[in-house]
Amino acid sequence: MSKTATIIGIAAGAVAVVILVIGFIWFCKSQCKNLSNRNSETGSSDPSALVEWNRGAGPSSSSGQSLFAPHGAQRFTMEELERATRQFNESNLIGYGSFGEVYKGLLRDTIVAIKRRAGAPTTEFVAEVTYLSEIRHRHLVSLLGYCQENGSQMLVYEYLPNGNMCNHLYNTGLESSTRLEFKQRLSIALGAAKGLCHLHSLKPPLVHRNFKTANVLVDENFIAKVADAGVSRLLEKIEEAGPSRTSTANVFQDPEVGAAGNFSEMSDIYSFGVFLLELVTGQQAVKIGSFGSNDTLIQWVLSELSTNNFVDRRLVGTFTMEGIRDLIRLTLQCMSFPGTGRPRMDMVEHGLEQIREKEMALTTMMGESTATITLGSELFASK
Ligand SMILES: *[C@@H]1O[C@H](CO)[C@@H](O)[C@H](O)[C@H]1NC(C)=O
Ligand SMILES: *[C@@H]1O[C@H](CO)[C@@H](O)[C@H](O)[C@H]1NC(C)=O
Ligand SMILES: *[C@@H]1O[C@H](CO)[C@@H](O)[C@H](O)[C@H]1NC(C)=O
Ligand SMILES: *[C@@H]1O[C@H](CO)[C@@H](O)[C@H](O)[C@H]1NC(C)=O
Repeated sequence: MSKTATIIGIAAGAVAVVILVIGFIWFCKSQCKNLSNRNSETGSSDPSALVEWNRGAGPSSSSGQSLFAPHGAQRFTMEELERATRQFNESNLIGYGSFGEVYKGLLRDTIVAIKRRAGAPTTEFVAEVTYLSEIRHRHLVSLLGYCQENGSQMLVYEYLPNGNMCNHLYNTGLESSTRLEFKQRLSIALGAAKGLCHLHSLKPPLVHRNFKTANVLVDENFIAKVADAGVSRLLEKIEEAGPSRTSTANVFQDPEVGAAGNFSEMSDIYSFGVFLLELVTGQQAVKIGSFGSNDTLIQWVLSELSTNNFVDRRLVGTFTMEGIRDLIRLTLQCMSFPGTGRPRMDMVEHGLEQIREKEMALTTMMGESTATITLGSELFASK
């Protein structure tokens, strides 16, 4: 008697699954389209720049060698890098990082980012660059090569056209040129988590030490890649005077690191938590301040929630209550004290994956929620 019922049940179940999968795929596709549309608006200035550089760069294509060789650091000549950046022309200067000035350049038909600092050539530099350039991952900015000449040390990296996440959260020169909605921010957080997770999974683990929103870069599809991995360690090895850089009140740095510079995977996870905090609030953590204990952080979050100031206003209407609550919980866990109680990076990655999947499923089936932000009591209810 139940045989036909079972068969009907199984068939109905299968149909439901297929519909869900189709719906999910359709949803993913439409999301991608949204992203690339958005991107073509913001990246529109690039093609002309490319043409201009091609003209100036001369017969560079004759070298023909791919910059993305699978292994090993490539050594570039000063002449080549000068040509790539038009003699380090100021208009090619795109920023300053812990390694010094950052230039955009066209090297062998590929746009690259070149970091330059003053320094005498050393063998430690080459050894460390060789090690770091072997670390390749979809969510890490690739180190392609180096140059040590004429009193300069330079690192050549792959270039990401959409800059760093600060540009998309608060340092937006152009007012809200990109408005990243909740699921997009989750994907970016997940990408960055995967990058950090890869570093921590190396043997021995590579601690980033300088993870921050400015070191989360996004490509033309808003895929996140972590920049500057290992640079802090590299600097320590080549700076004779030791870690002279008295870190200027870095809110991303775990207070437990202390003056002795006791960095660990746990301190990277604290930094990741601050990044999540910026993703949720859309504000610079510097403006928020630094929290040395669970209590001060939780008190601050509660007071901001009570005045509806915690969650980035640009996110309203793009998240479910459950999703934002879970992300805030994860953020607080990453920033909790003592550091030994924080989740490991693979757990953070897994947590983000779950939040994102649930969010996708919920918003696909029920449409976008217009939840108001009154989740203070819910957030800490389980304590
Ligand atoms: C830098 O580039 C600009 C054009 O982008 C050019 O006008 C200027 O002369 C260049 N400066 C140097 C020092 O080459
Ligand atoms: C090296 O530096 C000197 C002076 O600082 C400069 O005149 C020369 O052009 C540089 N050489 C290269 C290859 O850049
Ligand atoms: C540095 O951190 C480790 C844990 O990662 C801890 O065991 C050690 O005591 C710390 N050292 C100092 C000097 O704080
Ligand atoms: C801080 O919060 C975490 C959970 O987020 C907890 O495990 C830890 O015990 C708390 N630490 C203190 C000192 O209360």
